[in-house]
Amino acid sequence: MAEAPNAPASAPTEEELSRAGLKLAVDGQVARITISRPERRNAMTGRTWTTLARIGRTLPDGVRIVVVTGEGDIFSAGIDLNMFTPEGVDGERSIVAGLADGSADEAALEEYIAGLQEGFLWLRRPDLVTVAAVRGHAIGAGFQLALSCDIRVLADDASLCMKEPALGLVPDLTGTKPLVDIVGVHRAVEICLTARRVGAREARELGLAELVVGVDELRGAVDDLVGGLLATNPDAATATKALLQQAAGNTLEQQAAAERRAQIGRLTALAEAMAAGSR
Ligand code: ACO
Repeated sequence: MAEAPNAPASAPTEEELSRAGLKLAVDGQVARITISRPERRNAMTGRTWTTLARIGRTLPDGVRIVVVTGEGDIFSAGIDLNMFTPEGVDGERSIVAGLADGSADEAALEEYIAGLQEGFLWLRRPDLVTVAAVRGHAIGAGFQLALSCDIRVLADDASLCMKEPALGLVPDLTGTKPLVDIVGVHRAVEICLTARRVGAREARELGLAELVVGVDELRGAVDDLVGGLLATNPDAATATKALLQQAAGNTLEQQAAAERRAQIGRLTALAEAMAAGSR
């Protein structure tokens, strides 16, 4: 495959970001990632996702909030469909190369996809709160990217579509679990297997959007949300997100025990801070 999934660990340069169709702006505790290939409706490639993974691995210390958005009036048209052509995209090898004639190495392909998934997985990190700000279409991989974030703020023109099954594929960029967690398996089957568009209002009703605002209010609404998130104690925020993330997989007893352990850590930190303050 064109890029090794885990390399390199250095932060992407401006040129690398640009080739990946991404922009990154870090301002103190807030990182803003913009999918930026307007001429392709912000369609993404393997390079977009391996670069996203590198952004995650090399975020400056102190970043607490990551906002993911799209350039212009669309979030993302999903995977660049040229990834499925023999030519691939801009030096990136086609995803299907060698599969028809049996010359592809399936283990290498699985490792490659794991590398792409890394671009989505890190958005769940408990020390970060990740926010998708969605205008217009979020199709396929775009929808899965929004699903990878903790909070989705949609403009009222937003439209979510899990297009993969309609193209003969499965959604494989870590979107199926959050989708089922949010809407339940029955609604998820309906949404995926019809590949229909879910508009902003329905997304709000289904819990796929925490907030829906007018198009012109999106930036301000996200800024207000970020302000509210930053006002919370960072260590308490990390511990709370970690607790909430494990709740669904825990029994009530296990979760209560996890709350106790987390709280002891918090109380210890608060007591140490008070003691240091009184010295
Ligand atoms: N991959 C590559 N090129 C794309 C993609 C894409 N996913 N989406 C749009 N483009 C290109 C179009 O080919 C067109 O290029 P051209 O100007 O050279 O002809 C340009 O972007 C503009 O696209 P339009 O279709 O003209 O834009 P419009 O605003 O009418 O429609 C929409 C936007 C709805 C996003 C439409 O382009 C679309 O349906 N795109 C394909 C979506 C898709 O199937 N994505 C894959 C999902 S599966 C997955 O992500 C794993």
